[in-house]
Amino acid sequence: MASMIQLYYGSDTQNTHTVVQEKIVPLLKKEGVAVRDKIIPELSDEDWRDHDFFILGVPTWYYGELQSDWEAYFEHFKTLDFKGKTVALFGLGDQWGYDEWFIDGVGILAEALLENGAEIICPWPTTGYDFLKSRALKNEGEFYGLALDEDNQYELTQSRCETWVKQLVAELKKKDLLPAMS
Ligand SMILES: Cc1cc2nc3c(=O)[nH]c(=O)nc-3n(C[C@H](O)[C@H](O)[C@H](O)COP(=O)(O)O)c2cc1C
Repeated sequence: MASMIQLYYGSDTQNTHTVVQEKIVPLLKKEGVAVRDKIIPELSDEDWRDHDFFILGVPTWYYGELQSDWEAYFEHFKTLDFKGKTVALFGLGDQWGYDEWFIDGVGILAEALLENGAEIICPWPTTGYDFLKSRALKNEGEFYGLALDEDNQYELTQSRCETWVKQLVAELKKKDLLPAMS
C-alpha cells in the first residue's frame, strides 16, 4: 500500500468524481504510478499516517465554500500534522458563474495545509482563465494547484490533466517520492 499514491477527493454532482476516475487516475497509471483513491467520508486517520504524499481534489460550492464532504471534514482536517508531507491539489469550479470565488476551495485547503507544515507542489498557471478573484492564488500568476472548469472549459480538461500529471510525476521522481514505481 505504501507504494501507491493516495488520492482523496469530494464531489457533490460527480464532476470531480468523473475527472478522478476518467482522467487523473488513468493518466497516472499511464505514467506507471499506482493510485488508491478514496472519497472524504471514507477517510480515517490511518489514511494520512503512513504516507508521505497526497493528491487532494476539491470542488468549490456556494460562493467560496468547500464541497459538502470537505466542509464536514474540515475541522478535523485542520488538526492533522502535515510536517514532512507533500501535497498536490486540484480543484473544480466555474470561473464565469462564480468569478469572485473561482476554485476558492483549493485556497482554503492550501492555507490549512501550509499552516500545518505541508509542502504544496505542482502549482498551475492562471493563463487561460477569466475570473475576478480567487482564494487559490499562490501568487499573481499561479494557483496552488490544477484548476479545472467543467462548466465552461470542459474541452480543456483532458489536456490540462495530461500536462499537470506529467509535471507531477516528474516532480515526485525528483523528490524520490515514487521509489517503488519509477
Ligand atoms: C450552487 C453552486 C455554487 C457554486 N459555487 C462555486 C464557487 O463559489 N466557486 C467556483 O469556482 N465554482 C462554484 N460552483 C461550480 C462547481 O464547483 C462546479 O460545477 C464543479 O464542477 C462541481 O464539482 P462536483 O460535481 O464534483 O461537486 C458552484 C456550482 C453551483 C451549482
